[in-house]
Amino acid sequence: MIKKLGIPKEVKQDEGRVALIPEHITQFTGLADIFVETQAGVGSGFTDEDYKQAGAKIVSSAEELYGTAQIICKVKEPQSEEFELLNSDHVLFGYLHLASNLSLTKILLEKKLTGIATEMIMSGKEYPLLIPMSKIAGNLAIQKGMQFLEYSSKGKGLLLSSLSGEKNSKVTVIGCGEVGRSSIHKSIQIGASVTAIDINEDILNELKNQYGENITTLVSGSESATNAIRSADLVVGAVLLPGRKPPIVITEEDISSMEKGSVIVDVAIDQGGCVEGVKPNTHSEPFEIRSGVIVSAIANLPGAVPKTSSIELSTNLQKYVDYLLVENWFDEYKNNESLRPSLQIHNGLLLSEEVADSLSLTLSKLV
Ligand SMILES: NC(=O)c1ccc[n+]([C@@H]2O[C@H](COP(=O)([O-])OP(=O)(O)OC[C@H]3O[C@@H](n4cnc5c(N)ncnc54)[C@H](O)[C@@H]3O)[C@@H](O)[C@H]2O)c1
Repeated sequence: MIKKLGIPKEVKQDEGRVALIPEHITQFTGLADIFVETQAGVGSGFTDEDYKQAGAKIVSSAEELYGTAQIICKVKEPQSEEFELLNSDHVLFGYLHLASNLSLTKILLEKKLTGIATEMIMSGKEYPLLIPMSKIAGNLAIQKGMQFLEYSSKGKGLLLSSLSGEKNSKVTVIGCGEVGRSSIHKSIQIGASVTAIDINEDILNELKNQYGENITTLVSGSESATNAIRSADLVVGAVLLPGRKPPIVITEEDISSMEKGSVIVDVAIDQGGCVEGVKPNTHSEPFEIRSGVIVSAIANLPGAVPKTSSIELSTNLQKYVDYLLVENWFDEYKNNESLRPSLQIHNGLLLSEEVADSLSLTLSKLV
């Protein structure tokens, strides 16, 4: 039977991304009927007409989209206004980040739908759907940090970029994976003095080899790492323990020891945040001020540049949508080592050990 694939308009605040762009849905014609909610692509520069030309049917409301489609292909986790639209026939396919979201996890379990967390799809040891967004987020963490350091943002009024080749600003990056490396690269490009902190010494050695004198590398938790956090103009928190809540690597005491007007960008907020006591912000209200320090935690940073982000996301996502369109799709996800970590919710069962651990819920097993 031909599947019905739906692409809703994202409703998370300031979220302009769309999961699949018109160019990438043409390949599904014949395998699935594609339904797109009107204006779903507009934030990324794609019109309803573009989707129609690619073979999709435009539906006029979220109710119609969720009522018609079985596979819901979206970017961000469902928001409260979407909960009532979900039903047990749905395969929900998107970034779910359940480890930090008990209420959403419970709702998805109650709905008895299938929830596939795209951030947990693996290729070898990598997370191919997290990587492109992480690269963008790491870049944006510096872009946002530069803006928050401005006087009008209540920052210390410091230009992060070097004017004369001398390094007049300090950036500390904690967690040197995809996000961290992107932040490090951009900070070095603009001439900041950069310190990289990680628990993985191999990663730190690689960075030292790559950037030489332009970078200081420190092991997480050391006294010098604490000093590098407290003396920085901009700190980027980008740690990850896959599928779990991140550790707290920036404490209240660190914040109160920093110079007033300094900035912290907690990129790990989508998993719950790595700054003590952090609360999620939005692009419209991007930070709070704590002890005179600007603390920003925007869970959908790539949503700031939806055109770039949607193209990157859709390019990487399309291949995994393909797996959902075959007759035995559930077995594909259940039995394939790379796909299995993303199959987190099914028919009222919680199948992710990391989510169960993080939220103290019972793990179920498929028989
Ligand atoms: N806010 C957003 O819009 C957004 C977008 C993309 C990714 N993210 C988040 O950013 C975080 C980083 O993602 P990534 O793709 O770079 O992950 P990654 O796995 O590539 O890198 C994480 C790094 O953190 C390090 N780490 C773990 N524990 C640490 C600790 N205690 N101290 C120092 N380093 C530690 C790991 O060794 C690793 O190098 C994740 O939480 C991810 O969900 C957020």
